[in-house]
Amino acid sequence: MPILTIETKPYADQKPGTSGLRKRVGVFMQPNYLENFVQSIFDSLEGFKGKTLVIGGDGRYYNDVAIQTAIRIAAANGFGQVLVGQGGLLSTPGASHVIRHHKAFGGIILSASHNPGGPDGDFGIKYNVGNGGPAPEKITDAIFARTKVIDRYVTVNAPDIDLGTIGTQHCGEMRVEVIDPVADYADLMKTLFDFDKIRAMFAGGFRMQFDAMHAVTGPYAHRILEGLLGAPKGTVINGTPSPDFGGGHPDPNLVYAKDLYDLMMGPDAPDFGAASDGDGDRNLIIGRGRFVTPSDSLAILAANAPHAPGYAAGITGIARSMPTSAAADRVAEKLGIEMHETPTGWKFFGNLLDAGRVTICGEESAGTGSNHVREKDGLWAVLLWLNVLAARQQSVDAIVLDHWATYGRNYYTRHDYDEVDSAAANALVEALRGKLPSMAGTSLSGRDVAYADDFTYHDPVDGSSSAKQGIRIGFKDGSRIVFRLSGTGTVGATLRVYVERYEPPHGQHDLETQLALAPLIALADEIAGIRTRTGRDAPSVIT
Ligand code: G1P
Ligand code: ZN
Repeated sequence: MPILTIETKPYADQKPGTSGLRKRVGVFMQPNYLENFVQSIFDSLEGFKGKTLVIGGDGRYYNDVAIQTAIRIAAANGFGQVLVGQGGLLSTPGASHVIRHHKAFGGIILSASHNPGGPDGDFGIKYNVGNGGPAPEKITDAIFARTKVIDRYVTVNAPDIDLGTIGTQHCGEMRVEVIDPVADYADLMKTLFDFDKIRAMFAGGFRMQFDAMHAVTGPYAHRILEGLLGAPKGTVINGTPSPDFGGGHPDPNLVYAKDLYDLMMGPDAPDFGAASDGDGDRNLIIGRGRFVTPSDSLAILAANAPHAPGYAAGITGIARSMPTSAAADRVAEKLGIEMHETPTGWKFFGNLLDAGRVTICGEESAGTGSNHVREKDGLWAVLLWLNVLAARQQSVDAIVLDHWATYGRNYYTRHDYDEVDSAAANALVEALRGKLPSMAGTSLSGRDVAYADDFTYHDPVDGSSSAKQGIRIGFKDGSRIVFRLSGTGTVGATLRVYVERYEPPHGQHDLETQLALAPLIALADEIAGIRTRTGRDAPSVIT
């Protein structure tokens, strides 16, 4: 089949952010917008001729069209085989596993994660390398450079692949294997967790609700929770992926998963509530009457991981993103294992995981995962929690209280100001940067400043460094305020303010979070002038 060379013109705005290229669907639908980016990915890679590429997405609007386009361009560029999930579906952790398990060269994941979908929603595309993890900055920088000068892409004139039918097809010379999106992933989970113990817990009347938010984890949760683990039918709700996520916002936080939260705080709450996001890498964990912050969940899972067979030998280290609370640090300290603080974004964990320096990683943004794949993994976190609950035979609440009594509590909150004017947001950050040198060694609202800087990460594995990763003001009493601008938003700027305070093991652990942090929240506004500069009285989202 002849290879067609199509002339094109570059777009100036194809810089990958925290997690790939994310834009409104309408932007992606511009002529050659997607084609340019896919070709720029391939132009930035070497040695893939005849090799395998994995393609899958979260099922959002435009997924189907984008997958057919990517398959044709992959065929024309000389890939030997594409593995694609049935219906075009692969959760992000599922895709990471398929890449690793089938020793693929890399993979293309079509998703805008937790952002809304549909014709007026967001779309996204990201490239993952052979270890199953997001491409490192070296590659994303090369892709961006290429998008700025690209003048042609190649494709083939082949019919669409039938994504509904599992089995082998061809696109030009290239083989296309449509695979069951869940099977490999479910097999992996069986090797990590004590399925018998969890099954026995469900058989004993344990009740759970899992909200798949009309997104990609639906098929995974149905098969694993209700199928393999025998949870009663109806345990999984909103379990059929829809292109616009049922008109909702597939972000499993207390704002967008409010129904689940209300259920879990109500009189008829089941034992355990959980949810996952658009592409299945985030998680929300709520016990009866007890929400678990992602930072605490990371610490608790790290401390309890050996209850699961896959981690019975213990963990080698923990990594967390810089804005994530220091709760996990206390676990690492007690276990005498390595602890790493990385910039926001899962891609920074890859080197540490590959080098065997850490086993469990997490971010305050509801991402937790381990060395089983190279992405965060929503369902994995839920299954590890189930395994811990089955092993300890205690409630989520009891486990959380016990954790605080042992390690102390890191009160923690994040305030997001969405769709702020970009110029105002940049000016706020610049002004803060300017103030940092004069802050160190002073006292703010009675708190002694221990350090005030813009975080630079030095990767201990490959020696690279990444600067300007967020402004941190740390106090001698262990409390901290962090400011950074989101790298995943698609409209204006999103300012994130992270506030944390440490209360030792025998301290007071039952305060309401916003109340416990009120003085620091006020101080954050005072330092950065948030209200004045953004014109906002209150955050758009509090998590
Ligand atoms: C956000 C989260 C970050 C996460 C990323 C991708 O990025 O804060 O932890 O890795 O989404 O899910 P941000 O918008 O803050 O750049
Ligand atoms: Zn996601």
